[in-house]
Amino acid sequence: MRKIYVCKLKPGMILAKSVYGPNGQLWLRAGVTLTSQYISSLLRSKINFVYVLDPFLSDAQNEEIVSDQARLQANKLVKNVLTNIKQGKQGPIVDNNFLKVVNRLVEEVLDNKDVMYNLADILSTDEYTFNHSVNVCILSLLIASNLRYTRSRLQDIAVGALLHDLGKTKIDKRILMKEGCLTNEEFAIIKMHPVLGADILSCRQRDLADDSLKIVLQHHERCDGSGYPHQLLHHQINESARLVMIVDVYDALTSDRPYRAALQPHQVLSLLKYSGNHAYDPVFLQTFFEHVPAYPVGTALRLSNGDIGLVVKNKVGKTFSPTVRVYWAEGKEPYKNEFEIDLAVEQSIFVEEVLSEEKKEELFPLYPKNE
Ligand SMILES: [Fe+2]
Repeated sequence: MRKIYVCKLKPGMILAKSVYGPNGQLWLRAGVTLTSQYISSLLRSKINFVYVLDPFLSDAQNEEIVSDQARLQANKLVKNVLTNIKQGKQGPIVDNNFLKVVNRLVEEVLDNKDVMYNLADILSTDEYTFNHSVNVCILSLLIASNLRYTRSRLQDIAVGALLHDLGKTKIDKRILMKEGCLTNEEFAIIKMHPVLGADILSCRQRDLADDSLKIVLQHHERCDGSGYPHQLLHHQINESARLVMIVDVYDALTSDRPYRAALQPHQVLSLLKYSGNHAYDPVFLQTFFEHVPAYPVGTALRLSNGDIGLVVKNKVGKTFSPTVRVYWAEGKEPYKNEFEIDLAVEQSIFVEEVLSEEKKEELFPLYPKNE
């Protein structure tokens, strides 16, 4: 399947993933052929992108870490919790229903912990905070389960990750959604959200696990003391918070925000890998790298020998070395028969460039140009 911005949809394309509305209601089912009417209603909605079938990748690896249902359930839960806090409702936050959702996520991730993380897991709604919290939860669970954490610790991490930004409910939306640069004062206000979130939880959820609370309070600390709110150093930061901080940065940078476009996974991984400082825990970074592909399935690549193709497979531990299905020689002549190169095996060939969306559409059109 291929992620495509709604403004680029054309009638005849087939949805590869169902589209859900803001409350998790089904809008369009996977498999439906898009008509101009459907496209107009998608354009009117606040949905940025959808997934459509890609004839070049119909047989490509497409493993999900959690089901759409579990993701939707979690998304709805976070939305309810944050809305209730915003409205000043009192009472415990992590109730039985919350734990039910958490347990389902933990079970599903444990079942799929050998799968590479796939950005295509993102839901097609623009509700950033809710999606972001669920993404951070799922990827944190994936890393933690590969570190063989106990089930109860996984649950505590999931609770903390789902709630990590709850302090933002106390911050003016105009500052959170501002398109330009933040003033120093505005940034100082945003920096209060970890403490605000931890305060809310300490008041309303006295039995909360230390890991969960520390994730909320410390997810913006950095191991070299450059973070906030308390400029803690590596050994002073809770272990689970050291894990979640990496995932939080990754998901934030790979998402479109009002003030900047999303970076691509390989750009963010390079930032994390070559940042040259000691902001992040090296052990967690290593496990993170093993499970997050630099070039997700469907990425169009130019290789060092000039060949051009699409990523069809990623393997655990081979973050920067996908299997590429090659279609074009030197980007000019199409090969008669496409073939695959596993860059983890063919070590003399490496990725030269990630092609732009425009170039990809030109070389790998979803539909013939004259249609
Ligand atoms: Fe945050």
